[in-house]
Amino acid sequence: MKTSLVFATNNQHKVDEIRAVAGDLFNIITIKEAGIDIDIPEPHDTLEANASEKSKTIHRLTGKNCFSEDTGLEVAALNGEPGVKSARYAGDGRNFQHNIDKLLLNLKGINNRKAQFRTVISLILDDKEYLFEGVCEGNISEEQKGLQGFGYDPVFVPDGAAISFAEMTMNEKNKYSHRKKAVAKLIAFLHDH
Ligand code: IMP
Repeated sequence: MKTSLVFATNNQHKVDEIRAVAGDLFNIITIKEAGIDIDIPEPHDTLEANASEKSKTIHRLTGKNCFSEDTGLEVAALNGEPGVKSARYAGDGRNFQHNIDKLLLNLKGINNRKAQFRTVISLILDDKEYLFEGVCEGNISEEQKGLQGFGYDPVFVPDGAAISFAEMTMNEKNKYSHRKKAVAKLIAFLHDH
């Protein structure tokens, strides 16, 4: 029987991206569909600890098999920032555009634009936790381009591409994406389990 997993996120972009990769391989139930309406906390200073906290919170509330993911943009010239603070880089209550503006300002005049997205997935299956990681290396562009996707997509150009994530369709982004790579490991694990 197909495995059903509650996905501990309120971010519809993440749900769409992972559903596109998972296809028929497993069934994703959003927390909204599971009848839960909470803002899941991300209080820790590593992606691993935040992902773990999110899946454990949802597991406590639903008792169901579930997974979560936490993603950060790690910029080499900024010592790995914004990293785990990617969502709140420009401060609490600020939006994606404020975060991009701050990033481009902090990189002004800097030639080393190397960066990577890193995703950590925490899966809770039959009361045990498993972690999976996916990394996508690339560069931060000088200017933002494109309207697709979310977050830092308009300023991130993955290695091997000439356009930003925000200029790609979701399926194109998934050829490179950190999240796709982490989900591929999750799928392989579920397949073998
Ligand atoms: P979260 O804490 O995992 O929800 O993600 C932190 C922040 O990283 C988000 O608010 C986005 O700004 C950014 N982010 C996560 N994944 C992506 C992505 O695939 N593309 C662009 N930005 C992303």
